[in-house]
Amino acid sequence: MSTSLAGKRALVTGGTRGIGRAIVEQLLAEGAHVVLCGRGDSDWAEAELRTAGFQNVYATGCDVSIPEHVAGLFQFADAKLGGLDILINNAGIGIFKPTAELTIEDWRHTLDVNLSGTFFCSREALTRMRGAGGGYIVNLSSLAGKNPFAGGAAYNASKFGMNGFSEAMMLDHRQEDIRVTYIMPGSVDTDFSPRTAGKGADWKIAPQDVADMVLAVLKMPARTLVSRVEIRPAKPGK
Ligand SMILES: NC(=O)c1ccc[n+]([C@@H]2O[C@H](COP(=O)([O-])OP(=O)(O)OC[C@H]3O[C@@H](n4cnc5c(N)ncnc54)[C@H](OP(=O)(O)O)[C@@H]3O)[C@@H](O)[C@H]2O)c1
Repeated sequence: MSTSLAGKRALVTGGTRGIGRAIVEQLLAEGAHVVLCGRGDSDWAEAELRTAGFQNVYATGCDVSIPEHVAGLFQFADAKLGGLDILINNAGIGIFKPTAELTIEDWRHTLDVNLSGTFFCSREALTRMRGAGGGYIVNLSSLAGKNPFAGGAAYNASKFGMNGFSEAMMLDHRQEDIRVTYIMPGSVDTDFSPRTAGKGADWKIAPQDVADMVLAVLKMPARTLVSRVEIRPAKPGK
């Protein structure tokens, strides 16, 4: 028997565009109440979703690499949702350069957003979920978390790190009814990566397909935990 998401309270980082936006839309369509963030003023995304007919959606600005912003994001979620059942750590960036050309700022920014941001948000979520009936944390990793590629040193490091972090966090908190899944897509049709820009998009994974998988793991019965998922384009572009 799958778990209904109606009335569940969810927070999606990086929910303004791309994969995060598809996850937000599918959660809302299932009857969840959703807080989302982007880096800057994200009111426009809330307005678009309300115009599309969704009511229980609330957006705010938060740079997940800044712990004080993250604290504010979760206080915003407390006020709007009154608790938290689901966290989707989706916000992420990619800086793709040969290692010798990476600046210290490139390195720090990539690790700060993709890896530390995931920890900052998870830490806030765990303090709310522990003792409050548990919860679910889904981390958007990447096949770059297991397959290194030239130009990917900073991004690979951040996603390899996210995979290890996700598995350890799962082991720490599974007995408290907190489940953790990390999802590893290959190329997805968003504005994320200049690496595959110009190669056409018809062969890529659609953001909606990743969102389908996120909802599928969230709906698994409480007895079962899908800890890691790989998603690939069926026929990758040349
Ligand atoms: N696209 C792919 O091929 C692919 C493949 C595997 C994994 N992924 C992973 O999937 C996730 C989403 O990727 P995407 O393709 O949807 O990217 P995208 O289209 O570039 O969207 C990125 C989202 O993250 C937000 N964001 C970026 N930096 C942020 C920060 N510091 N604080 C808060 N929000 C921030 C952006 O919001 P604003 O722009 O409004 O600030 C936007 O909503 C990332 O973690 C990425 O690594 C992507």
